[in-house]
Amino acid sequence: MTDTDTTEPEGTDQRFRHDYLEVRGLRVEFDGFVAVGGVDLTVTPGDLRFLIGPNGAGKTTIVDALTGLAPATGSAQFGGVELVGNKVHRIARSGVGRTFQTASVFDELTVLQNLDIAAGSRRGPGTLQRKRSGTPPAVEEALETIGLAGARDRLAGVLAHGQKQWLEIGMLLVQDARLLLLDEPVAGMSHAEREETGQLLRRIGAERTVVVVEHDMEFLRSFASSVTVLHQGRVLSEGSVAHVQADPRVVEVYLGSGSRGRAVGAGTGS
Ligand SMILES: Nc1ncnc2c1ncn2[C@@H]1O[C@H](COP(=O)(O)OP(=O)(O)OP(=O)(O)O)[C@@H](O)[C@H]1O
Ligand SMILES: [Mg+2]
Repeated sequence: MTDTDTTEPEGTDQRFRHDYLEVRGLRVEFDGFVAVGGVDLTVTPGDLRFLIGPNGAGKTTIVDALTGLAPATGSAQFGGVELVGNKVHRIARSGVGRTFQTASVFDELTVLQNLDIAAGSRRGPGTLQRKRSGTPPAVEEALETIGLAGARDRLAGVLAHGQKQWLEIGMLLVQDARLLLLDEPVAGMSHAEREETGQLLRRIGAERTVVVVEHDMEFLRSFASSVTVLHQGRVLSEGSVAHVQADPRVVEVYLGSGSRGRAVGAGTGS
């Protein structure tokens, strides 16, 4: 009733307590080419970790490896479940969700229907047909979180680019993904959309474990709580934004690579 509700110290949701990602010696080879050459990574809930690095550094391949889409060796545990060598659907069921650079929503369905289908895939076959009295609480909550409550009946196909990305994130939330791996979520977004996405990631990252693959340095400086810099399949540097920005090896890789011309210390990406 009163505003004090929102100022109460929040107890961390028990569901998220033991949800941390621990990657050890992750390695991916494609026909002898080492795309990921032994990566260690620890990400805890509440940390908004950015994964950056020049083109071809292995960022997407790491996400693929953690979601069962790339053949990997080594270990990657989330919430006590080993992801390496596990099947795609079992990884998803263990609470690991990812987005792709191009949002994969059903354009011809409404926002609500998209979320319902995602929630249904969590509930399992059959349950989607069950008669519902109103919107499931998880879907309602996701609509609020992604800021699309007012657009629930709009077709996903007519949403703005940014809104589609938010819907895709919402679909992970209703599937109860507790580890979210987001591959360049703000690519192609306007400045205002980036800001909103950053706030959204903060809200989600407060409890869940979030890893954001990103190129946009302005965005990183505004929202990252920690950064891992990859280069040629290995971790080059890790720490706070200030720490990696000041790391001479990072500066050299970014200035030396010339790929997309992204300097860590100055300017924006893209
Ligand atoms: N299926 C594949 N078969 C062969 N090589 C691949 C495959 N997928 C990725 N690679 C190679 O692995 C390396 C890492 O690619 P990856 O896509 O992970 O880089 P990235 O850091 O995501 O780059 P970008 O910033 O361009 O998205 C690249 O050299 C890429 O060509
Ligand atoms: Mg990539």
